[in-house]
Amino acid sequence: MKNIFAISGSLRSGSSNHIILEYLKSLPGENVKFVIYDGIAGIPAFDPGLDNDDPPEPVTRLREQIAGADGVVICTPEYAFGVPGALKNVLDWTVSSGSFSGKPTALITASTGGENAHAAMIKILGAIDAKLVPETTLLISFIRTKIGDGQITDEATVKKLKTLFKALLNSID
Ligand SMILES: Cc1cc2nc3c(=O)[nH]c(=O)nc-3n(C[C@H](O)[C@H](O)[C@H](O)COP(=O)(O)O)c2cc1C
Repeated sequence: MKNIFAISGSLRSGSSNHIILEYLKSLPGENVKFVIYDGIAGIPAFDPGLDNDDPPEPVTRLREQIAGADGVVICTPEYAFGVPGALKNVLDWTVSSGSFSGKPTALITASTGGENAHAAMIKILGAIDAKLVPETTLLISFIRTKIGDGQITDEATVKKLKTLFKALLNSID
């Protein structure tokens, strides 16, 4: 069984990034369990003074969920030319715990443009030693034109997502 833990950088109801994660979850895959994180809004603001082996409970739970996953998918928009604060906050809590170290990870940036957040996320994931390869990174610009009625309507995007997910599963030993 391959356990995949997915985090959306958008908390918006009807979020395009959430739709992408739901699509990946729906892909038929033998022995794949795909869990979308629903606790991002409950993660307290990062405090280095509380960043130890006994952090706030939601952080402990988050770290356990990442540790228990064979692979992680992060799907995020760009806000104000950067990584959404809620997502960056989650990642800051994983620096000292080493939760991402060597963890097969896929990064999807789905945004209007997204180039800045995508580049920043690649740097951040490098800093926390996530196992990220070019095949498991994807920038989807003009995302709102590729989504309709809660579905991905752009066939090329669907194909790229399938390829990325396959690459992530293959990168898990
Ligand atoms: C506060 C705010 C700032 C934004 N800034 C950017 C930006 O700098 N670059 C970009 O590509 N899109 C930006 N957007 C547009 C988002 O890419 C777009 O709303 C996207 O659909 C958000 O993802 P979601 O559908 O998953 O919520 C911004 C949106 C908001 C709400």
